[in-house]
Amino acid sequence: MYQQESKYGTLQLVVGDITELEVDAIVNAANSALSGGGGVDGAIHRAAGPSLSRECGRIREARGGCPTGGAVITGGGDLRARYVIHTVGPIWRGGEKGEAELLRDSYDSSLSLARRYNLGSIAFPSISTGAYGYPLEKAAPIAIKTITEHLNSHRTPERIILVLHTEETYDTYLAALNSQR
Ligand code: APR
Repeated sequence: MYQQESKYGTLQLVVGDITELEVDAIVNAANSALSGGGGVDGAIHRAAGPSLSRECGRIREARGGCPTGGAVITGGGDLRARYVIHTVGPIWRGGEKGEAELLRDSYDSSLSLARRYNLGSIAFPSISTGAYGYPLEKAAPIAIKTITEHLNSHRTPERIILVLHTEETYDTYLAALNSQR
């Protein structure tokens, strides 16, 4: 575990399974249809139980899902987390299609939603770096920078955790954090 203090809060990097965290909200790396999938999306839906797909289905019907870079919120179902914030990261298409900005938007939209719900703690997975193919060493600095800027300009959420699923992912995020300071 690694921890960095910013003006209004703390960023923690941990290796683990995001479905086990006891925080106000965990973030899901979802798709635009909010239809569930593999990776972290599958793990979150399995751990939360059927209420999650039902709520996602209602959001799909009401507003057609969630655009890339956006975020929507549901309850946490059977999870320890009270809420799940579903964000849709960009699919990597070579880096010239606005991917960096959209990835930044994903973290920003999720943090804005957490702020609107006055949530104190939020946990993120490494968005877009699995099935969506975003190179890890390019995604990590964007995640770190967006989160750090939020912690330096807003009081809520005050505890932000990046939950990395493997040691390799953790090491890449730690390197990005250290090179940013
Ligand atoms: N906890 C934390 N991180 C996890 C977990 C878990 N339980 N399971 C997987 N991960 C990690 C992966 O190792 C990867 O680093 O989440 C990161 C993101 O990978 P994906 O889950 O594949 O997400 P993404 O690349 O954003 O692709 C999203 O995949 O599952 C579908 O419906 C989803 O279409 C969407 C796409």
